[in-house]
Amino acid sequence: MPVYVLGGFIDVDKLVEISSTYGIPLIEDSTEALGSFKNGKHAGTFGLTGVLSFNGNKIISTGGGGMILTNDKEIANRAKHITTTAKTDPLDYFHDEVGYNYRLVNVLAAIGVAQMENFESILKRKKEIDALYRSELYGVGDIKFQENDTDSDPNCWLFTFRTKKMRDLLNHLNSNKIQSRPFWTPMNNLPMYKDLRYISQNDISNKIFKECISIPSSSNLTIEDQHKVISEIKNFYK
Ligand SMILES: Cc1ncc(COP(=O)(O)O)c(C=O)c1O
Repeated sequence: MPVYVLGGFIDVDKLVEISSTYGIPLIEDSTEALGSFKNGKHAGTFGLTGVLSFNGNKIISTGGGGMILTNDKEIANRAKHITTTAKTDPLDYFHDEVGYNYRLVNVLAAIGVAQMENFESILKRKKEIDALYRSELYGVGDIKFQENDTDSDPNCWLFTFRTKKMRDLLNHLNSNKIQSRPFWTPMNNLPMYKDLRYISQNDISNKIFKECISIPSSSNLTIEDQHKVISEIKNFYK
């Protein structure tokens, strides 16, 4: 279950190969990657299934809910069945197994459809924001950007970079009214999972966690505001 972190591509071709060699189903967590493509193919369509999230912070939102992507009819039918209470009869309330009420309700789906009509312009704006940050912040302090393979076209959902001064920069930006966020705490550092087995030779996730900071990237961000973010970051490293 690979995750397309920040909408960026993973080495999915390698995973498809491993998946077919060993018969391991590939489920892509493409929740952050709506609008991300590799060689013209959308994230979440390489394996058996993919998932998208329309949670409040995503590139488009229905407030909550998401979508399962699959070309496998059997899985599509099965997902539909158990996410809609496993009811088998159109009239009688008969359920043939334990089901769930996980449907995206009509009203929320309509909000999502309306946003899809503007999706191209949202995506375009995200890419412009990403390009301006990359050109203005290149070489500033010890900033390192997320790298993307040349055959991938990421959605640039949330601009995040690495710096050893992450915590100080985070405090600096937030105290100057520029909302910035640390990265997600690795699950093995959370109290309920801390005693579970965690296999790692290098503990990359912990290293990334300690160095990553996300900065304003909303498609509503004006160029003027983006320049304020950029100059505050430059001030910090002076
Ligand atoms: C990588 C990733 N996986 C899963 C989720 C969960 O999606 P949801 O909030 O729609 O359950 C999110 C975001 O919310 C996410 O970013």
